[in-house]
Amino acid sequence: MEYADILKTIEQEIKQQKLTGKVANYIPELAKVDPNAFGMHVLCNDGSHFGFGEQHTPFSIQSISKVFMLTLAFKYLEEQEIFKRVGVEPSGDPFNSLIQLEQEKGIPRNPFINAGALVICDILLEVCGNPQAELVKMIQRMADIDKVPINQDVFDSEMKCSQRNQALINFMKSFGNIKHEINEVLTLYTHFCAIELTCAELAGSFTVYAKNGKLSDGTQLITASQTKRINALMQTCGFYDEAGEFSYRIGLPGKSGVGGGIAAVHPNELSVTVWSPPLNKKGNSELGMYALERFTTLSGVSVF
Ligand code: DON
Repeated sequence: MEYADILKTIEQEIKQQKLTGKVANYIPELAKVDPNAFGMHVLCNDGSHFGFGEQHTPFSIQSISKVFMLTLAFKYLEEQEIFKRVGVEPSGDPFNSLIQLEQEKGIPRNPFINAGALVICDILLEVCGNPQAELVKMIQRMADIDKVPINQDVFDSEMKCSQRNQALINFMKSFGNIKHEINEVLTLYTHFCAIELTCAELAGSFTVYAKNGKLSDGTQLITASQTKRINALMQTCGFYDEAGEFSYRIGLPGKSGVGGGIAAVHPNELSVTVWSPPLNKKGNSELGMYALERFTTLSGVSVF
């Protein structure tokens, strides 16, 4: 089946799905989003692209930004330096869990849980002159777009209810794994989570992970080896305590966010993104997972 036909089939099928998921509301601003919004976009490495629905509507990328944070850290530091302070193992726990940190002496399991991404933000504060501007600029280059907005209302809303993330930073600071002020780390991380992109833009930015670290103009943004590491981490840790389920059902490296977005890649082939706000119990887009499962099943495009 051609990609255009596959997407048409998925577009029909998702209308029949009965949703049990709920839009994230622990960040009050995110609860205002339309639960019926749905967008999907496929961008092949040869530049051909396919999509439907609200593929050009910006949404809050939330934890998908953790992939960009790690990518920026890789541009500054050898991997050994980064992975002294954060691990590369799946946590099997919810994204904001504190539970492993005590036994593991403040070293988070991986960079894609909140604790790990907060450590990466602490590292970025050390190595980058202006990490927020640099991350935005990097995404602009990756997606070949002029603007990468940060939604101030989403940022303010999350800052007001960020007790969990404050606790994570505090706890890791007590083990010496956070060097900067708590508010500085939290502010940077929360700004990154409040970035908005459309499905089409997100697929554009994820092309780098499908092209061995190369931008669409052929420039090497990160090395092929670093890209391999990032994809491996997305495969094993991109969906928290649902990473196994995502591998089993979809079979691609990917990353989710509580805004309802999911971005995934098939190395050397394509990037694919979906956006549907209602989340399942593990905090991943319910309909997004369904659409991606149908996409890899109908196309046979999976790494397994
Ligand atoms: O830190 C948080 O809780 C949010 N800014 C991001 C969490 C998130 O997207 C988890 N993803 N599924």
